[in-house]
Amino acid sequence: MSNQTALPFHEITVENPLKVCFVCLGNICRSPTAEGVFQHLVNREGLSAFFEIDSAGTGAWHVGEPANSKSRNVAEQNGITLKSKARIFEYSDLEYYDLIIAMDSDNLHNLHRLDRQKKYNNKILLLREFDPVSGDKEVPDPYYGGIYGFELVFDIVMRSCEVLIEQIRPYIVNK
Ligand code: 4NP
Repeated sequence: MSNQTALPFHEITVENPLKVCFVCLGNICRSPTAEGVFQHLVNREGLSAFFEIDSAGTGAWHVGEPANSKSRNVAEQNGITLKSKARIFEYSDLEYYDLIIAMDSDNLHNLHRLDRQKKYNNKILLLREFDPVSGDKEVPDPYYGGIYGFELVFDIVMRSCEVLIEQIRPYIVNK
């Protein structure tokens, strides 16, 4: 279990919420699931005022589309409505977000390539750095497969986001 990731920020307040962007390739399967799951956990913990949560893709094919219907169905079965509309991750997002969380190593590579001057290295992370189950560090791309892949993505994302929120919690200052 890798729960010692050094998070690149300090105090989180209502005035200075933590801005988190989850990133995958198409922004229709994995990162919308992560956005919806993380928002759900934050809401459940009564912490929504301390966060701004979004998702984006490194590929442009699906810009403007809602999350994939299988992703939405799996999330709905777990009481979560995915509300994202696909967008491309822009250079300016590197500056804007405090935490940029990639779903797999291709996404991570694309983000590092966008960060030409290597200014934002420390805020770009892999989601499965927070996965309490050891093993693969990628959230597998479910796009071309059946429902099992989408259920697997949901489970990985849920358990990883549960650890992520616990690691962020000490930085929240309730003034
Ligand atoms: P995502 O899945 O990156 O989790 O949104 C994909 C969606 C679309 C494609 C690939 C992966 N695509 O090739 O169109």
